[in-house]
Amino acid sequence: MKSFMIQGAKILATGSAVPNSSLSNNQISNIVNTSDEWIFTRTGIKERRVLTGINQSVVDLGILASMDALKKISMDPSEIDLIILATSSPNDLFGSASQIQCKIGATNAVAFDLTAACSGFVLGIVTASQFLQNGSYRNILVIGADVLSKWIDWSDRSTCILFGDAAGAAIVQRCSNQNNSILNFQLNTDGKYSEHLSIAYKNYTSPHSKLNLYQGYFNYVAMNGKEVYKFAVSQVPLSILKCLSSLDMSVNDVDWLLLHQANERILKAVADKLSINKSKIIANLSKYGNTSAASIPLALDEAVQDDKILDSQIVVIAGFGAGLTWGTVVIRW
Ligand code: UT7
Repeated sequence: MKSFMIQGAKILATGSAVPNSSLSNNQISNIVNTSDEWIFTRTGIKERRVLTGINQSVVDLGILASMDALKKISMDPSEIDLIILATSSPNDLFGSASQIQCKIGATNAVAFDLTAACSGFVLGIVTASQFLQNGSYRNILVIGADVLSKWIDWSDRSTCILFGDAAGAAIVQRCSNQNNSILNFQLNTDGKYSEHLSIAYKNYTSPHSKLNLYQGYFNYVAMNGKEVYKFAVSQVPLSILKCLSSLDMSVNDVDWLLLHQANERILKAVADKLSINKSKIIANLSKYGNTSAASIPLALDEAVQDDKILDSQIVVIAGFGAGLTWGTVVIRW
């Protein structure tokens, strides 16, 4: 197996957090024209969690997930050198990572937000691994967190059935090259199709009364579900194959397939295309829906807690979503 790394990077611990309030398909069918049967058969989702408190934000979930990960390895927050918060639903457009840094007491950490929608956690792990493998930092906290319930049009049945709120976190540490576990990655962007999935900025129709200057607001989530579905099923398998082949590995080496939890039909179609047995798919979207940047670390944390993933097993992680962005990371656990 080839290795391109100068030093290694290893995931030491994972953590996660979801809001207490759950919203079932039946409850959604009371607000839009849909049914539990339609949602479950088309998506695999049964329920999702939503953040309901007036002052609650992505920061609160990010703090809980981070503390959960830190607690598992009894790491003091002051040992964290860098915090990367992957989110598309910050509570401050200037960034939310610094609020998490302050509230968890990571006094020595640099902190910044990374916006890449549902691919955010994959990009976060890849970014972290660069800082670790080139020796800049020793401990990095990568958080994937989103509260898209705040950006959903709850009268639009084509989107409001899909999304839920959550946060997941991973602590990644520099290690020797021999112990490297983030083996390689493959990332892509195609901005030609950005309008297929967006929370777009809209201008008010008239400018400021004295300045010729337009101001505006952010719209709700808009999605062309069919196009995003086709894109995911065609591009994600190619990305996974490219990443495996760069490591002289094949689909036979894969022990677990952990995809962004968008739709169970997408997970199965990608596994089918790759001839990966469905028993290797990690899925928890029936309980949480699509939690955007949180979906991969949330499912990863659950699989680790359930002792599914064993030492040295190969986990293929792939994210995809708005941008459009997509990418794969191959990890040896
Ligand atoms: O995280 C970012 C990535 N996002 C995704 O990966 C989303 C990918 N796309 C999808 O998961 C699927 O496209 C959806 C679940 C969003 C939609 O499933 P679909 O099988 O592609 O349905 P569709 O949009 O083709 O709609 C089929 C029918 C339409 O009715 P007609 O035109 O056939 O009469 C829709 O109006 O289903 C109707 N429909 C619904 N019916 C009941 C659409 N949404 C609903 C609904 N309940 N919630």
